[in-house]
Amino acid sequence: MQDNGFERAGTRERNLGLELVRVTEAAAYAAARFMGRGDKEAVDQAAVDAMRSALDGVDMDGIVVIGEGEKDEAPMLYIGEKVGNGLAPEVDVAVDPVDGTRLTALGLSGAIAVVATADRGSMYAAPPGVFYMKKLAVGRAAAHAVDLNASIAENLTRVAEAKNMPVHDLTVTVLDRPRHKEMIDEIRAAGARIRLITDGDVMAAIQAAMEEYTGVDVYMGTGGAPEAVLAAAALKCIGGQMLCQVWPRTDEERAKMAQDGVDMEHVYGVNELITSDNVSFAATGITTGELLRGVRYTVAGARTHSVMMRARTGTVRFIEAIHRWQRHEPIS
Ligand code: FBP
Repeated sequence: MQDNGFERAGTRERNLGLELVRVTEAAAYAAARFMGRGDKEAVDQAAVDAMRSALDGVDMDGIVVIGEGEKDEAPMLYIGEKVGNGLAPEVDVAVDPVDGTRLTALGLSGAIAVVATADRGSMYAAPPGVFYMKKLAVGRAAAHAVDLNASIAENLTRVAEAKNMPVHDLTVTVLDRPRHKEMIDEIRAAGARIRLITDGDVMAAIQAAMEEYTGVDVYMGTGGAPEAVLAAAALKCIGGQMLCQVWPRTDEERAKMAQDGVDMEHVYGVNELITSDNVSFAATGITTGELLRGVRYTVAGARTHSVMMRARTGTVRFIEAIHRWQRHEPIS
């Protein structure tokens, strides 16, 4: 039969990501109501409630692997919680109802709501006590050039070579944290440009892999371990690499990890953070960032801007939606 574009692997399958977009949209417009009100807890609560309830409408038998924490501290979207309506497929679910709670509470740019799914048992579940990871993310062209054990200068030289660019034209995103001071000095000494962000490293890693949209070449630094798995889900879909290593913040954390047998030397790539190729990813902007516009309330209703991706086909869709029922609802 002639290839009409719909006969290739995966194109006729159901696309779970299209349903996940409704979940991140719901979390985003719930959180965005609290933008700039200075209340991080209210932002998070609104997003968690909305995301939890929207997930129930999705045809899937999901288990939260990356979530809001342990059951006793998180009443909803806790690790191990079942989500979805129980129908096939069986999937692992990673959620971050708001990546950038502080950004939203202060009305700063770059907050998103994000969800990913992958075949059951295929997502890396960080052992208890592992909160942070060292990360290095790049796009497809430099995916094979990076090495977490090499120096920063070496990595930047290799990325520049892989992309046929001079190092001084590379843009590196880094979370603005005191712990990154030395790293920032090294990036500057190597001659690359730096984009400091105050929060939101899921999107920072994705941006490095979508350089055609963002002009960002590398994301590096330490950030949340759950955020690493969410970013890995996106990178499985769009290509690129993110190398990660667990990162104890203190000697106590290091001792605890050693006691628990956590391998602190091991470098994980995206294919180890998520072993399945059946991955769906969706994110919706809460406040406007580089890739996604934030929620805007207009006379027509709430406007959302989302991205969804699927690894089986590599499809990336940007979706703009108007939610008319969200019009003029008073905030309680
Ligand atoms: P939250 O929205 O959950 O607070 O996370 C924001 C974030 O910037 C993440 O994107 C990042 O991985 C992590 O915090 C970094 O942690 P820290 O703020 O402790 O340096």
